[in-house]
Amino acid sequence: MVNLFNIKRKIQDGSLKEMWIEAKWILGYIKRYKAQVAFYIFLFSIGAIFGLLNAVASKYLIDSLANRQIKVIVTIAVIYISFGLFEILTGALTNRITSKIDLRVINDIRIDIYDSILNIDSEHLMDFHSGDLLNRINSDARTVAGSVVGMIPSFITRVLQFTGSFIIIMYFDYVMAILALASAPVSMIVSDLLVKKMRKHNKKMREASSKLMSYHEESFVNIAAIKALGLKSVFTNRHKEQLENFKTTSLDYNKFSIHTHLFMSITGLIVSYLCFGWAVFRLYQGFITFGTMVLFLQLAGMLRSSFSSLISLIPSSISATTSAGRIMEIIEKPTDDCDATNDEQTLKSARKRGVVISLEDVSFSYRKGKKVFEDACILARPGETIALVGPSGGGKTTLLKILLGQLKHQKGRLGIYPFNEKHKNIVFDDKARLLFSYVPQDNMLFSGTIADNLRLAKPDATEEEIKDALVMADAYDFVSNLPDGINSNVEERGKNFSEGQIQRLSIARALIRKAPILLLDEATSSLDVDTERKILMNIKRIKGEVTCILTTHRPSVLGICDRVYRVSGGKCTLFGGGESLEPDLQDVLEAY
Ligand SMILES: Nc1ncnc2c1ncn2[C@@H]1O[C@H](COP(=O)(O)OP(=O)(O)O)[C@@H](O)[C@H]1O
Ligand SMILES: [Mg+2]
Repeated sequence: MVNLFNIKRKIQDGSLKEMWIEAKWILGYIKRYKAQVAFYIFLFSIGAIFGLLNAVASKYLIDSLANRQIKVIVTIAVIYISFGLFEILTGALTNRITSKIDLRVINDIRIDIYDSILNIDSEHLMDFHSGDLLNRINSDARTVAGSVVGMIPSFITRVLQFTGSFIIIMYFDYVMAILALASAPVSMIVSDLLVKKMRKHNKKMREASSKLMSYHEESFVNIAAIKALGLKSVFTNRHKEQLENFKTTSLDYNKFSIHTHLFMSITGLIVSYLCFGWAVFRLYQGFITFGTMVLFLQLAGMLRSSFSSLISLIPSSISATTSAGRIMEIIEKPTDDCDATNDEQTLKSARKRGVVISLEDVSFSYRKGKKVFEDACILARPGETIALVGPSGGGKTTLLKILLGQLKHQKGRLGIYPFNEKHKNIVFDDKARLLFSYVPQDNMLFSGTIADNLRLAKPDATEEEIKDALVMADAYDFVSNLPDGINSNVEERGKNFSEGQIQRLSIARALIRKAPILLLDEATSSLDVDTERKILMNIKRIKGEVTCILTTHRPSVLGICDRVYRVSGGKCTLFGGGESLEPDLQDVLEAY
């Protein structure tokens, strides 16, 4: 009673409440496959019932053997064998259904995690290392799916087996039944105490495994740097340290599990010896037959094993709910989805007239960081090329990410609207994203061919369009010299190309979409000045009035820009003119 009261209190506060929420989340996936789950629970239950009937049949088989009742022996033997066969067949069938549900649930969970990761607001996504995300979508998803198909039937079968064997023993001998149940209160109390500790260990294990995966992932991505900087031995040693940490955490958990298991098993063993002793005593007294003795021993074994299986479901459920909690952490992060949508007319107008981008007194700070800039004002109109300059860390990339809707500013107004239609501000819905082309600071080529990479931006692009985009990005010459031309393979992150070639391919991919807004973040930093100028001039000549904002360090290209802003020291100012130009900018902002 005390124990039950304890559990109730624990459910209301702390880890059991969390477990309950996580278990409900897992239940959501099971509900999707109600019919299949019900069917395989049915099969499992039949299996469990047959197990019990088998035990009873063996009693009668032995008793009839003792009494030499040949006819009964044959009948029981036939029943006995059919039970056995049926058990094997249901086993095969449940195996197949279990695999099907397991794979469906794991796919569902992975789809949900993958989609959530793609939707998480970029600032919150930084809370996770990519290795950690890999671990969650792999191991945690597998643990949860495994628990869905493993734990539920196991629970139901064991409960059935437990109550069934208990009732049968009770029917023949109630003292035996009470003895068989002796371990229950001990195990309950101990398991209650263990839950919290087990959860802590489990979380630690998961974190250790995520840390290890993150370390591996980071090392493999940066393998070139590790070699170039002569850091092989440093990283090898660190790897050993990481493995050592993982080993220690795993062994801690293992020790804890062994202790728990030992305790439970010894309790079970004592109980089964008690039962055995009692059965022998009753047989000796002549109260029971040999058959009943065999039945008792079988059932007592079943009772013990079903009870310890039920107890061992506690660690499994802790492991499953811990993994569920880690997946929920991803799924519950704020997304960058947009509640509002643009009307078709606004988007059409933006494509036709071009887009004005304006920042008016915009301030921005990272969630985990200081203020990047305050009261920034920027204006970019169709046909204009605007440059953002400033020292590294000044806030240029941050500013472009605000324009892309990836980061949300805290103060001021961001205007993105069709030329001369300031009242039709565009929100960042999925369709509006097609108005943007962006070349990020880090290379972002995908595995596949060059054509595949360009077709990511425009799936129906013809070879001619691909060629035109490559020409504009000054990439056609080197691409056409490759043996397979535009069908040449791009290895992981474009490692078979030079930085400059990667940048030109990325620019070509941005240009093929023919979007009215083009944002280039140090997109030409690895190119020589002439090539850079050539590409920027090509962009300026694009028909349809592109609004282009680029960040650069090169003074040489500033000459072809319509306006230059300096992003530095928390400010964003019109370059050169400083404060004297500010009123002009305000006027221009008013006008468009
Ligand atoms: N995710 C982030 N969280 C916190 N601070 C950040 C983050 N990204 C960038 N910063 C900080 O914001 C400032 C501006 O960075 P960034 O926009 O990348 O500069 P730039 O592109 O001009 O080199 C830097 O001080 C940088 O440390
Ligand atoms: Mg930058």
